[in-house]
Amino acid sequence: MRNFIRGIVVGAIALAAGVYGYARLGLLDLRADRNPSALEERIAGSAMDESTGRHAAQQRNPLPPTEENLLAGARLYRHKCSDCHGSPVNPNSDYGRSFYPRVPQFMKQVPVLPDHENFYIIKHGVRWTAMPAWGNLMTDSEIWQVILVLSRFEKLPPAVTEELKKPVEAK
Ligand code: HEC
Repeated sequence: MRNFIRGIVVGAIALAAGVYGYARLGLLDLRADRNPSALEERIAGSAMDESTGRHAAQQRNPLPPTEENLLAGARLYRHKCSDCHGSPVNPNSDYGRSFYPRVPQFMKQVPVLPDHENFYIIKHGVRWTAMPAWGNLMTDSEIWQVILVLSRFEKLPPAVTEELKKPVEAK
């Protein structure tokens, strides 16, 4: 048993030394204009799903989907999110395609996570990606207003869709 544990410890140290040496020799490819490998996507994706599932508090969106809240959410989305996640007039954002990993394009791939998980991701951001922690820049109510829009992308009232189509800089 002692030899078995010693074997595991020596193996773990050798692996860590190998990874460290690989990085120190400059062998890691750190360019952002490469596609993540299928293995990297699978490991990072499931780590993210499990972490969000474990940490996101169970809560409902406290705001009703009134036109006023939806318009406010669409305006926030346009100013703060559309450059990366796309908009009806720019469904495939060049900026979003330039990050590693690529930014999910919400006009083509509607967000499907439950509201409380979206709240957690938006408020705290995602480490090692371009997704910022919006809790530093938006109030909780503003985050919930954007989530009202995210969870209804395909059935928004026409005035809200029009709001999303305005140029990013427009008031
Ligand atoms: C600078 C680029 C950038 C901006 C701006 C940005 N995001 Fe993100 N966002 C990302 C990236 C990258 C991911 C993917 C992270 C990952 O791979 O887990 C992401 C992921 C998400 C997710 C999880 C999607 C899913 O289904 O897994 C949500 C929800 C989200 N963003 C909402 C927003 C909202 C709302 C805003 C604006 C308030 C915003 N993002 C602004 C880059 C951005």
